[in-house]
Amino acid sequence: MSDGAAPDFGWFDEARFGMFVHWSASSQHGVELSWPLVGGIAALPYGTPMAVDDYYAGALDFCPQPGSPQRWMAAAKAAGMGYAVLTTRHHDGFALWPSKHTDFSIAATPYGGDLVAEYVDAARAEGLRVGFYLSLSDWHHPDYPPYDDNAVPYMAYLGRRSEPAAWDRYVEALFGQVEELLTNYGRIDIMWFDGQWERSVDEWHARELEALIRSLQPKIILTDRLPGAGDITTPEQNIPAAVPDGRWETCMTMNRTWGWCPADTEYKSGRDLVHTLCETAGKGGNLLLNVSPTGDGSLPAPQQERLEVVGAWMDRHADAIRGTTAGLEPWQFYGPSTRKGERIFLHLLWRPYETFAVRGIRLKRVRSVRHLLTGTDLDYTTRATAQEEIFGTDPVGDLVIGLPEELVDPVATIVELTVAG
Ligand code: GLC
Repeated sequence: MSDGAAPDFGWFDEARFGMFVHWSASSQHGVELSWPLVGGIAALPYGTPMAVDDYYAGALDFCPQPGSPQRWMAAAKAAGMGYAVLTTRHHDGFALWPSKHTDFSIAATPYGGDLVAEYVDAARAEGLRVGFYLSLSDWHHPDYPPYDDNAVPYMAYLGRRSEPAAWDRYVEALFGQVEELLTNYGRIDIMWFDGQWERSVDEWHARELEALIRSLQPKIILTDRLPGAGDITTPEQNIPAAVPDGRWETCMTMNRTWGWCPADTEYKSGRDLVHTLCETAGKGGNLLLNVSPTGDGSLPAPQQERLEVVGAWMDRHADAIRGTTAGLEPWQFYGPSTRKGERIFLHLLWRPYETFAVRGIRLKRVRSVRHLLTGTDLDYTTRATAQEEIFGTDPVGDLVIGLPEELVDPVATIVELTVAG
């Protein structure tokens, strides 16, 4: 880390929830981003292979509706999110800003604007922190080398290397793009690389790249996808079984595809997404939930609807998510829990029978047990060994809490337990 650089984690810890936006000129085709180019991968079942020319057809006609980023950022804010990350350039190489280091960008289209600038302004206007996703790999760049139909399969393409002079030019362009992104748009809060698996730390010049980033944006948070660097780990499409060391953020799609793909109707329900958020926060992580705007920039209706379900729940329960840390030990409660000082939030992701238990609690220190949404005090009994109850000055035991049926939330119920000390 260069002198004076210290990432600002305050907002990241507070937010717990952000919006990932996967968007490129290819969103016009309604296909997964980039992967169709290289024959798809099993992990992305809708990344159906496409001929290179077909994938790139129409890219230079990309002309989304003006004001699109404002609408995504308003939706993110309404969903209770605290930040966003936009694919400024995915593996397919199309830059959403008028980069001087490529001729394959929004500048070459009739759009005539800078989508990255619009996004940054829109996020700030909503009070959201700003993140940039940038693929280290570029399957379109002449010096990378570009992918072509003879390059199949992907594994064979991975083994291809450009001539040293071409690679130097590529690295220069990559550094140039990073410099543009981190110089021209004010303070950027998180830098999210990807595609790192295609080259080594040395080939990416990762150390110099990190130094450049920290010098341009001393407070920025870097993900671990710049090899050898990284302030946070970034699991993907799941909640890690073992809690990662340090800060982490899992990114997830609402269906199975990152880019707009109408063929993919395998959506998680809004409730499932809320539960995912609760579980992620319960393990002390952040959730970066993906949306996939269409080619004209609008948010697909199934995604908009889900954001609304999450937002309606967050309106009532954000206290149990935002600014929290992981709560109890897993054995203490059958479900996720989060904490803020003396307040412990129990996330009921199922309907209890008449009661549910919380174990290993210092019983005499319990100050209140409340239904978060209505503030209703809940009846509870305590259970501990007789000896603890009679002689213990600070007995430890179980709390058995009653939850009336009418207080069960259709999405997820939160019970707030306050324990002194
Ligand atoms: C994977 C995919 C990429 C997607 C990313 C999000 O790395 O290659 O398409 O952008 O996951 O984390």
